Amino acid sequence: MATVLITGGTGLIGTALSKELHAKGYEVIILSRSPEKYPSRNSGVSYAKWDLEKMTIAAEAIFKADYIVHLAGAGIADKRWTLKRKREIVESRTQSSALLVKALTENVNHVKAVICASAVGWYGASAASENETENGHSFIESDPAADDFLGTTCQQWEVSIDPVLSLGKRIVKFRTGIVLSNQGGALKEFKKPLRFGFATILGNGKQIMSWIHIDDIVRLYIYAIENERLHGVYNAVAPHPVTNKKFMLQLARSLRGKFFVPFYVPSFILEAVFGELSIEVLKNAPVSCKKIKKEGYQFTYPSITAALHQLNNRNLSPFPSPQAERGDERS
Ligand SMILES: NC(=O)c1ccc[n+]([C@@H]2O[C@H](COP(=O)([O-])OP(=O)(O)OC[C@H]3O[C@@H](n4cnc5c(N)ncnc54)[C@H](OP(=O)(O)O)[C@@H]3O)[C@@H](O)[C@H]2O)c1
Repeated sequence: MATVLITGGTGLIGTALSKELHAKGYEVIILSRSPEKYPSRNSGVSYAKWDLEKMTIAAEAIFKADYIVHLAGAGIADKRWTLKRKREIVESRTQSSALLVKALTENVNHVKAVICASAVGWYGASAASENETENGHSFIESDPAADDFLGTTCQQWEVSIDPVLSLGKRIVKFRTGIVLSNQGGALKEFKKPLRFGFATILGNGKQIMSWIHIDDIVRLYIYAIENERLHGVYNAVAPHPVTNKKFMLQLARSLRGKFFVPFYVPSFILEAVFGELSIEVLKNAPVSCKKIKKEGYQFTYPSITAALHQLNNRNLSPFPSPQAERGDERS
């Protein structure tokens, strides 16, 4: 079976992806800055080291790899965006791509494809009117990058891996929406105030969030590995984005029944607490997944109802939701 090398594979997506790949019989090597921290966290998965400052990488990991999944990067929403943090967010992605390009250029290898993370932050806020957005206007892959921090970051990030094309490698880039998982990321943060009975709606709550269930993003990476015809950029978001208000109320209902109080957090408070990062949670960002669906990918969790139902009832096996596929969930 093929070997998949995952950069940043110790994170939220990488951990889930490596388990699934291993279960399917793939060999998995995780490239980490500190592999010594993960002696046997995931059986059947081995760890190798890279050092972005010294620009070094375990050559045997490159030699063994058939595919590379490139996830590494400093967390975009983990800290306030100071100048230093912004530099780290960009350089952790561009430098790591540069190191991969260097390693693939200098070492004998048989890597067939590099599947790379990107984010829907590429698009910025939608300029469409509320009416147009309600009628399904969404960003598509050919739309230009926004000229804000995340837009320019995603642009540099995506371009930084392009030199591997000239080495004859196939490239796939997933502009990923908010990943919903019980293991961390945004969902964990959204749930915190609910412990005290508050469903915190951000700003006026009308902004559309483009999200994806962890199982679908994992399956998408595997889909890209296994389907040679995939190349270029794809939005990795569920078919039915939701408004922040709808999302928070649905999450609250599924966790607390009727026992919660909706609480609007004014945008000026978000700006005071999160600074420029607040723009990200307040912006209207409807994104289309039509392109990846055209490639034949079928979402396991197309609707937020199906996704939250599964995430809040962890023992349930994945289930498709035809009725949710039909209904638009935005309002
Ligand atoms: N989760 C989401 O909602 C979401 C949405 C859109 C896009 N994405 C993108 O998808 C990728 C994977 O997401 P994730 O949620 O799994 O991320 P994550 O949990 O934050 O993990 C990313 C990994 O990158 C490595 N890393 C962190 N800081 C780094 C730095 N300064 N330099 C080099 N490597 C660094 C870490 O691995 P080591 O410490 O082992 O080196 C970490 O485990 C990220 O690039 C993320 O931006 C995620």
